[in-house]
Amino acid sequence: MRSSRLWPVAAALILAVTLALVPSGVLAQSSDPVRAGTGMVVSESWIASEAGRDVLAAGGNAVDAAIATGFALAVTHPSAGNIGGGGFMVIRFPNGQTTAIDFREKAPLASHPEMWLENGEYSAERHHRSHWAVGVPGTVAGFDKAHSLYGDMNWERIVYPAVVLADDGFVLSDRLSGSLSRFALTDGRPAATVAQFSNGGTAYAAGETLRQTDLGRTLKRIMLDGRDGFYRGETARLLVAEMERAGGLITAADLEIYEARERVPVTGYYRGYEVISMPPPSSGGVAMVTMLNMLERFDLASFGHNTAPYIHHLSESMRRAFRDRAQFLADPDFVDVSVHALTSKEHAAELGNDIQSDRATPSGVSDIPMGYESPETTHYSVVDGNGMAVSVTYTLEGGFGTGIVVPGAGFLLNNEMGDFNAGPGLTNDRGLIGTSPNLARPQQRMLSSMTPSIVARDGRLVAVVGSPGGRTIINTVMQVILNVVDFGMNIQEAVNAKRIHHQWLPDRIGIEADGASAETVRLLEAMGHTVQVGGGQGTAHSIMIDPRTGERLGAADPRNPDAGARGH
Ligand code: GLY
Repeated sequence: MRSSRLWPVAAALILAVTLALVPSGVLAQSSDPVRAGTGMVVSESWIASEAGRDVLAAGGNAVDAAIATGFALAVTHPSAGNIGGGGFMVIRFPNGQTTAIDFREKAPLASHPEMWLENGEYSAERHHRSHWAVGVPGTVAGFDKAHSLYGDMNWERIVYPAVVLADDGFVLSDRLSGSLSRFALTDGRPAATVAQFSNGGTAYAAGETLRQTDLGRTLKRIMLDGRDGFYRGETARLLVAEMERAGGLITAADLEIYEARERVPVTGYYRGYEVISMPPPSSGGVAMVTMLNMLERFDLASFGHNTAPYIHHLSESMRRAFRDRAQFLADPDFVDVSVHALTSKEHAAELGNDIQSDRATPSGVSDIPMGYESPETTHYSVVDGNGMAVSVTYTLEGGFGTGIVVPGAGFLLNNEMGDFNAGPGLTNDRGLIGTSPNLARPQQRMLSSMTPSIVARDGRLVAVVGSPGGRTIINTVMQVILNVVDFGMNIQEAVNAKRIHHQWLPDRIGIEADGASAETVRLLEAMGHTVQVGGGQGTAHSIMIDPRTGERLGAADPRNPDAGARGH
């Protein structure tokens, strides 16, 4: 599997020519998707999409291309693309069968539910920004597992484009150079972080080349030794040395025993469409199917897109599903989660029974508050020539995770432990949550909102959808699906359309800037809603299949100009 040494020169040449010729992801910024006859990759970075597309063009399947894209994103989209974090992959095979790979980070063996208390007081610093905030990374194990179960192509060929991108570098866009300098040159960043993401302590300008040679060496070890190139040997030694230096918790044993899990996806049915998504430890699939089940009894199209009655009904279903999320969802290896019951039509009927057509249902004082969850993370979608579809969302949690680059290894460490609850009984009105299911315990996976999803109908692939955005992810993905199913939008229009968000608490509807008229906001307020307009919500890089021609229609989200849909 890891034997061939002949192809790297050719692959490097192809990659270098491609990088020189194609300047931007601008193609995807209209209301028309990018069309391709065979395969398609859409991601946050057009450079990474091309790495995946080239794997498809060279005969790899959608899983191979997804892994290549994921490793490339770890180089070209460092705020969320990663090898030091974790995530989820949902796969639909050409025969309609589905599966999911869970490579969510795990709590180190030394973790415990009260670990975020310092002298009896909750410490947000420890929970979100310290070396204790780092979960045992899962990405490399997840990609290795997906490849060994369902990949077709030589592993080295798949990882190699990322090695070249790290070693030879890539040209920085306006957006990325700006975000790197804001991140790396903030006071207090570790020396290895400043060294990796600035030019000797000076900000990179757009048009300059970012080379990451330590990361290149780590990726080479992964290319040659697969999983062991990360969880054992030099990479593991460097990671554990950083933990020991700074009093972190991850040990060689934590790395050695980390395993990705294959899981059964959550499947729901909405107006005849099959919606396949990620089960716990993500809350995404369960919450989205619960909302769709509640919404099915309303004629949403007749309300009109983003009108007051439409936004009202969405918000009412969102607040109810998010309450379930806080009460019931966590790592199923530790907590009994009744996925079947929560996603049943009967449960939705009960939950949505008291939705009124013209009055908001306030989120009451006895309700369960939500803790902080970062809007960072990244999603990408892949479809190959045989119709295999792969939907991947993975993350470092915060933008650039903890901000700590492992010295000598060149990758950023996640702060995913922040997705565990604050501590037993710590629920309070400032937004801490202390319910038991999602407390930090040795080896437990923290609850996530990531919602990599696939839609099918009558046995045929319809779309691949997902997004970053913390808890807004679930609502973003659902709205892209509603835009296609209820409003007949093409996939680019569905991705571009303005989105809304409600998450139970705070009891407030968020609407993207220019997402609703002043009159719509006034009508919503008259129903008893609090409304906040502004900002953006997610970047939902998606693919749809043209039902007439079978073409792959790629929709990069224009909210990130560096994103790109690349097909062949
Ligand atoms: N850390 C973001 C998520 O897992 O949903």
